[in-house]
Amino acid sequence: MSIAKDSGSPYDRGMWLLERLIFRRLRRRVFPGLRGDVLELGVGTGVNLPLFEAGARVIGCDASEGGLGWAARRKTQAPVTLVRADAQRLPFADGSFDVVTASLVFCSIADPARGLAEARRVLRRPEHRGELVEPPVEGTRPEHRGELVEPPVEGTRPEPRGELVEPPVEGTRPEPVEGRAGGRLVLLEHTRGSGLGAWLTDAVGLLWNAWSSECRLNRETTQAVAEAGFRLERVERHALGIVRVIKASV
Ligand SMILES: C[S@@+](CC[C@H](N)C(=O)[O-])C[C@H]1O[C@@H](n2cnc3c(N)ncnc32)[C@H](O)[C@@H]1O
Repeated sequence: MSIAKDSGSPYDRGMWLLERLIFRRLRRRVFPGLRGDVLELGVGTGVNLPLFEAGARVIGCDASEGGLGWAARRKTQAPVTLVRADAQRLPFADGSFDVVTASLVFCSIADPARGLAEARRVLRRPEHRGELVEPPVEGTRPEHRGELVEPPVEGTRPEPRGELVEPPVEGTRPEPVEGRAGGRLVLLEHTRGSGLGAWLTDAVGLLWNAWSSECRLNRETTQAVAEAGFRLERVERHALGIVRVIKASV
């Protein structure tokens, strides 16, 4: 795939090494498979836009005008509309999208819980047909399903090398029967690492968080996704858990 070239923006030039070391490979795995009405939060300079295939209809939003100009120059296969919008107050109706996605964004959104609540609101709900399936009752699901991704006690599980894929949590919620599946959240994020990665992101984060007014190195984004009410489907941990692909559904 000869796409996702640098736009020439200062942001893309600054990301050159990290892109080659880790992000480019993950972007090329994550974004081409997304289909339907897709909302990309924090689209920035549009690094992912050329990766969406023709089966996706993409709206890319960002709070800042700066990146959107660069994003508009990208060559894309999918139809793309760019909108200036705050991910914490999305200007879209409930249930408008099949997929909400973002990369390297939940480290910098001021209120990630609010951004995730908005993402969940604009995603389509599962449509149940045939057999009646009881909706989940608030409070009956275990809280902090993210803990299944992070071992509760350090050192009780070997640290992953490369990629760790956690299975979905069985039996925590009734499944839709013969209906349309609910919308999906697909994130590629840097987060607080696990094990040594946690120590590193906490230690470096002390300096980093003082230097950067936006980006936080040690956010527990997987846990935040679960706490926002999403069902975690798959979490991949890369680079000591500092980089994660998080897939979840409403
Ligand atoms: C580190 S950049 C990531 C850009 C791009 N997604 C990527 O993968 O390279 C973070 C982006 O999130 C955007 N952003 C931060 N807070 C936001 C918010 N509340 N609403 C929308 N976009 C936001 C920033 O403007 C910036 O473009």
